[in-house]
Amino acid sequence: MRAKIPCVSANDSPSGLQTTSAPHESAFLKACRREPVPHTPVWFMRQAGRSLPEYLKVREGIAMLDSCMMPELVTEITLQPVRRHKVDAAIYFSDIVVPLKAIGIDLDIKPGIGPVIAEPIRTRADLARLRDLTPEDVPYVTEAMGMLTAELGATPLIGFAGAPFTLASYLVEGGPSRNHERTKAMMYGDPELWADLLDRLAAITGAFLKVQIEAGASAVQLFDSWVGALAPADYRRSVMPASVKVFDAVASYGVPRIHFGTGTGELLGLMGEAGADVVGVDWRVPMDEGARRVGPGKAVQGNLDPAVLFAPTEAVEAKAREVLDAAAGLEGHIFNLGHGVMPTTDPDALTRLVEYVHEQTAR
Ligand code: CP3
Repeated sequence: MRAKIPCVSANDSPSGLQTTSAPHESAFLKACRREPVPHTPVWFMRQAGRSLPEYLKVREGIAMLDSCMMPELVTEITLQPVRRHKVDAAIYFSDIVVPLKAIGIDLDIKPGIGPVIAEPIRTRADLARLRDLTPEDVPYVTEAMGMLTAELGATPLIGFAGAPFTLASYLVEGGPSRNHERTKAMMYGDPELWADLLDRLAAITGAFLKVQIEAGASAVQLFDSWVGALAPADYRRSVMPASVKVFDAVASYGVPRIHFGTGTGELLGLMGEAGADVVGVDWRVPMDEGARRVGPGKAVQGNLDPAVLFAPTEAVEAKAREVLDAAAGLEGHIFNLGHGVMPTTDPDALTRLVEYVHEQTAR
């Protein structure tokens, strides 16, 4: 079962982190559970990363995938945005392809490009390379998460994984893809092979999320970044069963499960049905309408356009205010961007945004 979250004294935690109570009582987890909150919680996808000079400094000369396997470095990078921006949650520093690398898939993360797969998965014989993942495959994750939960005190730690469709796109295409043409060719042309591929990925992803929850993650997010490329009927038939399987695999832990994608306006209802407790909404759909589409009983997360952060402070605050106004009547809103922080974002703009949301929503 789930590892007990260590209780640390204020002196053990870096300044700026919440130390007064347990993660369970945090604004972030309360919002996930749709309970009343002291303020709207805020965190950012890609809050750790190239927007921060302190990140660039510690990553110097270390390849992205290597850095994900170094527990001290992962701990430091995960804590950096919590210290700097005073966000309400930390997200574990890693990448969606780490579990695939861990089971022996030959891949790399190329700077400025993304994940590149040496031998793409395209035939039934290729499926044999996708073996199950065990905790022994990712000892560095368990170690780093143990260090992190001790350091974070009452600040929750979010674990994550890539969803079966988004992982399949990288594996089948061999790298990042605009149109997902080979992926869709398999989905439409060989539905049995496609279903088996997604089933394999669901098993790996479910096992990987379990490792993170057992190591102390307070919530988990399933990133289905590219699923907005699909029409609802195709999503329901060819992708949703695998995502349901992932959420089912970790349901018994009682840890909030967040489901995220971009361009998902037409899919929000189905994503809600897939089983998550919280559904991410991007900036193309207002939060109140997003929540309506997601359906009752779920919290929502979003949805400032990350490009807004390049505008002057007054404009950022006006757009953030629009998000807060649209979400004002909802039970369970977590403020986030509609997608990840862009690398050239001014980190001070992020710090100011956290302050603004906290001030505006203090109850
Ligand atoms: O702060 C956080 O959000 C945690 C860290 C995190 C990373 N990747 C670190 C990273 C998370 C949650 C991810 C998830 C991820 N990785 C997704 C889903 C989220 C999304 O943005 O939609 C996807 C699609 C990937 C695949 C991937 N990995 C891409 C597209 C890239 C960018 C390539 C580039 O260089 O522009 C990566 C590399 C990556 N993952 C970086 C970071 C900080 C940049 C590498 C570096 O700093 O050298």
